[in-house]
Amino acid sequence: MTEAAAVACGRSVGRGDKNGADQLAVDAMRKMFDTVNIDGTVVIGEGEMDEAPMLYIGEKVGAGGEPVDIAVDPVEGTNLVAKGQPGAIAVIAIAPRGCLLHAPDMYMQKIAVGPRAKGCIDINAPVEENLKRVAKALNRRVSDLTVVILDRERHYGIMEDVRKAGARLHLITDGDVNPIVNAGIEGTGVHMYIGKGGAPEGVLGAAALKCLGGDMQARLCPENEEQMRRCVEMGIADVNQVLTLDDMVKGDDCMFTATAITESFLLGGLRYFGGGVRTHTISMRYKTGTVRFIDAVHSYDRQHFSVKL
Ligand code: FBP
Repeated sequence: MTEAAAVACGRSVGRGDKNGADQLAVDAMRKMFDTVNIDGTVVIGEGEMDEAPMLYIGEKVGAGGEPVDIAVDPVEGTNLVAKGQPGAIAVIAIAPRGCLLHAPDMYMQKIAVGPRAKGCIDINAPVEENLKRVAKALNRRVSDLTVVILDRERHYGIMEDVRKAGARLHLITDGDVNPIVNAGIEGTGVHMYIGKGGAPEGVLGAAALKCLGGDMQARLCPENEEQMRRCVEMGIADVNQVLTLDDMVKGDDCMFTATAITESFLLGGLRYFGGGVRTHTISMRYKTGTVRFIDAVHSYDRQHFSVKL
């Protein structure tokens, strides 16, 4: 499904049309759901039923089978696709029915780290304190940590805190699922993701970190009465509640899969050639601890396979 979504919108890269690219990916992903043997309910999708014709929250998908919750983002980083910049992915998370937080479309404060720093983070503690604890867990100096933050005015305070603490800072323009995944994998050079981004993206990132054994804490940030009401409906009466990884992704089984639309540290972007396209996907499952890197060639004419050794 993520391969289909990525390939469908891949030719829109750099065209400046984020909505057009998103629509192509949504259509392709929705179509593929009909071929999968699940009894799925979209709990994180393209929006409410009245605002999104496909992959809307509550939509039933699949050809019948296990009852599962589905979180989708056919294009995570629509601006990145529109501008042809790195880091855009087509992404999906699946867990047994009732296991994914039905996060509404609002902001969420997040802090995420990898497995070796599990248990060291506290979203209520100052940034410096979190950095010190993570540095200790990773057996390195704070100045050898790299923190990723979305480059937004609302983050100027946290940026200043990270700089004062002496850690390295990597500012990104869009797409915070990617750095959350990277924080969970040693060797990516990302030691912490921190800041306020979309709540749906937070749950997607949490599914990945759960599979990878990392850690994350979050807090919903409702900005008006309507968003407050959505939180209460979701069973979160106290909006200051700290959400742990297990609050966002319950139980002992979940899957996370992302296909690159544009390249990132872990995944090569789409590569078109005469007669086909090559995709790069990461797919992981909590229950088995398996992380698969899938390098796939989709040939339209079956005449263009070649290998350079
Ligand atoms: P879209 O793909 O829906 O455009 O979201 C991209 C994104 O950068 C997310 O990764 C991030 O969580 C959120 O937008 C940040 O929101 P904002 O741009 O309002 O700061």
